[in-house]
Amino acid sequence: MNRFIILILTIGLFGSLLGCKKQSDRLHTVAIQTPDGFPVMEQSVDALNLTVEGIALGRRLFYDKQLSADVSVSCGTCHEQRAAFGTFEHDRSHGVFNSHTLRNAPALFNLLWQKSFHWDGAYGSIHEEAAQPLTGSVEMGTNFDRIKEYLQQDAYYRESFKRVYGTWFIRPELITNAISQFTATFISANSKYDRVKQGRDVFDSYEQSGYQLFQTKCASCHAEPLFTDHSFRNIGLPIDPSLNDLGRFRITGNLTDSLKFKVPSLRNVSATANYMHDGRFATVQQVIRHYRYGVQRSTTVDASIQNGIPMSDTDEYNLMQFLKCLTDSSFLKEPRLSRPY
Ligand code: HEC
Ligand code: HEC
Repeated sequence: MNRFIILILTIGLFGSLLGCKKQSDRLHTVAIQTPDGFPVMEQSVDALNLTVEGIALGRRLFYDKQLSADVSVSCGTCHEQRAAFGTFEHDRSHGVFNSHTLRNAPALFNLLWQKSFHWDGAYGSIHEEAAQPLTGSVEMGTNFDRIKEYLQQDAYYRESFKRVYGTWFIRPELITNAISQFTATFISANSKYDRVKQGRDVFDSYEQSGYQLFQTKCASCHAEPLFTDHSFRNIGLPIDPSLNDLGRFRITGNLTDSLKFKVPSLRNVSATANYMHDGRFATVQQVIRHYRYGVQRSTTVDASIQNGIPMSDTDEYNLMQFLKCLTDSSFLKEPRLSRPY
């Protein structure tokens, strides 16, 4: 059991989100405690109104393929728990009607501590993000009218929405709120790294050397304890002409943002292959080899790595040992996050 995720349950009356009708059912409010050493949250957890019942509803929706246009894909199809909610060993994911996503599905955890979502930071809140995959043509390819019709015909959903939101009228923002309530509870902070930081475990000598190397060569972008500084950077990956993905530039239209992508967290990195925005690398070693030998110079490549990140084979080995300490195996198996049926 993960001692660091303490969901404090308090029983209280919960007013309807619509504000039109007093809620008569008792809902169980959930408070999320910040794991030891984490900074304050970036997302407003209050706006989500977390309840046990809302999270359970979101969990059902997250794993429900009926929500997609050809009933073949759910959020959980691309965001698999065993891969820390990324797509297991895939470069890009399969959406409805055999489509392909443009990018590698990011792992999902500690979302409340994230400033923006998607590789290019297209969305500012989890709630806002959740609508995109439902309607996106290469994800679930549907629309809210179809989803509402399906949900309204299903007794479980009808009753649940009524219970959680106090209304029979299922609106898009209630659907995305429920899904976000569930994904907000994806909290991963129980790796060996965390235990070492809390004085409950020790690194062996390889891991310790790897950690020191990490702090000098990687932490300027993959900053502890989230292992990202939330910035967008170009790390000199040669552009894939078949995708022509310019990253952050697509959002800001600013040439200086060309080829910049969000710095991903490295927590659970051993479980989240493939790597990079397009999943071009299958192993962590290939990633490190990129930093050692593959960084391609361009006007927007990060100044700190213009000449790559030089290191010896021993350094590479130690670094890989350290990165393995970032796996939170309890999170990858946590029953409360798994498919509910
Ligand atoms: C077909 C595969 C697919 C499905 C289905 C899918 N996603 Fe994603 N998801 C992705 C990809 C790919 C990205 C990255 C998109 C980008 O950066 O342009 C992503 C990004 C995200 C992010 C942002 C993560 C971050 O760190 O930036 C969240 C949150 C998310 N998805 C949640 C969901 C939810 C909730 C659902 C269901 C409603 C869902 N996804 C369905 C593939 C999928
Ligand atoms: C200048 C900032 C910067 C530095 C320094 C840096 N990284 Fe990264 N890292 C990034 C960015 C940005 C990405 C995503 C790039 C993309 O997909 O286009 C990334 C991606 C990764 C990934 C892939 C993760 C995933 O989920 O796809 C790994 C692994 C990684 N870095 C490890 C390291 C290691 C190890 C070091 C030190 C040797 C390091 N990085 C140094 C910015 C940096």
